[in-house]
Amino acid sequence: MVRKLVSSLLSPIFLVLVLFLLPFLASARSGSRSVGLNLQSESEPSDGRWTDVLRLIQVAENKPPTWLTEDEILVLIRAGVKFMDVTEDQKGVTAVAKKTRVYPDVPNYVSEVSEFIPLLEAQRLKTTLKAFTNFHTRYYRSSSGADSSKWLFKQILAIINAASDDIDVSVKKFKHSWVQKSIIARFEGSDPDRQEEVVIVGAHQDSINMWFPMVGRSPGADDDGSGTVTILEAFRVLVEGGFKPTRPVEFHWYSAEEVGLLGSQAVAQYYARQGRDVIGMLQNDMTGYVGNQKGSFGIIVDYVDDDLTLFLKKLARQYANMPIVDTKCGYACSDHASWRKAGYPSAFAFEGKFENSNPYIHTSNDVLENLDFDHMLEFSKLAVSFAVELSHID
Ligand code: BES
Ligand code: ZN
Repeated sequence: MVRKLVSSLLSPIFLVLVLFLLPFLASARSGSRSVGLNLQSESEPSDGRWTDVLRLIQVAENKPPTWLTEDEILVLIRAGVKFMDVTEDQKGVTAVAKKTRVYPDVPNYVSEVSEFIPLLEAQRLKTTLKAFTNFHTRYYRSSSGADSSKWLFKQILAIINAASDDIDVSVKKFKHSWVQKSIIARFEGSDPDRQEEVVIVGAHQDSINMWFPMVGRSPGADDDGSGTVTILEAFRVLVEGGFKPTRPVEFHWYSAEEVGLLGSQAVAQYYARQGRDVIGMLQNDMTGYVGNQKGSFGIIVDYVDDDLTLFLKKLARQYANMPIVDTKCGYACSDHASWRKAGYPSAFAFEGKFENSNPYIHTSNDVLENLDFDHMLEFSKLAVSFAVELSHID
């Protein structure tokens, strides 16, 4: 079925049309959501050719996956067909048994959270995002994508180095078989019996130009520079404010989300193999675009944990100043889905309703000028409250 779709899209008429339209399409994104590709595998050819590498691609949860080449995957991407790269699942990845966790009825650490929130600054979001979007692309296997990851790591390290000595916080690189590394910053917890538990706040650091992934300009300001700086700012105020969680709290910046959630799948599967207990994971992907709508939190209600999502809404009501709207991606659209697949509870706060989301993503027009930094700051408040509250619950 997928092959039939691919071969019909590869028809001469379609190809001539695409070639003719390419210059226009490179800066204008079509209405449907497109996906990226993953061309990386352990059999990566050293001369940079990818044509012969096959990846296992699944276009829907109820359909069997199919082995596709780079050219075939690119056709899918440009046609806006959704997929997940499940090649690594062949290696016998573990899914942990889901523990049922009960979240509190109401937020319980209001005075502690309220000490951190006033430290958040919209101007810092903007300054950091400006620098981050200056990398030509943050595509996961480009050299500028590797550089942007190193730069981000340095920003995190600088925050940590400025912290007072009694804060137990560190940062590490999580290596993949491609050049852009994921990044994990961690606050240790004070309770020795809860070392294997963790609360996770995440975003993805990579970007994609869907027409020319390796060479095209891809500022990725909203997708997902916004989430990257949203959680970096939350991390900064927690460090500067002297956060001491009961259980460990981690901030994750994933590589290779745009090509089938590869970075987050690798990290989630690693945690599952280690038997770690994730109390809750909050994804931040696209937090800056309001357009001509009234600002609101879009709370994603599909492919998430219902109980954690209910608690997230309570946090939003308590700590932020924006209305909440339920919304759906309709597919496993971001890194929260990797945690869910590994058997862990995850949630996803998004810039508004899915149908009103930023139309420029995956093109050279996903720029800073389209974004609202006060809107973004509300997501930093949510991330701070998620980290503090879940770090202390029983
Ligand atoms: N940020 C997008 C997901 C998204 C787009 C959410 C629009 C809500 C509204 C993400 O980076 C992305 O592009 N995801 C892919 C799917 C992924 C599995 C490759 C997509 O949506 O096509
Ligand atoms: Zn994204």
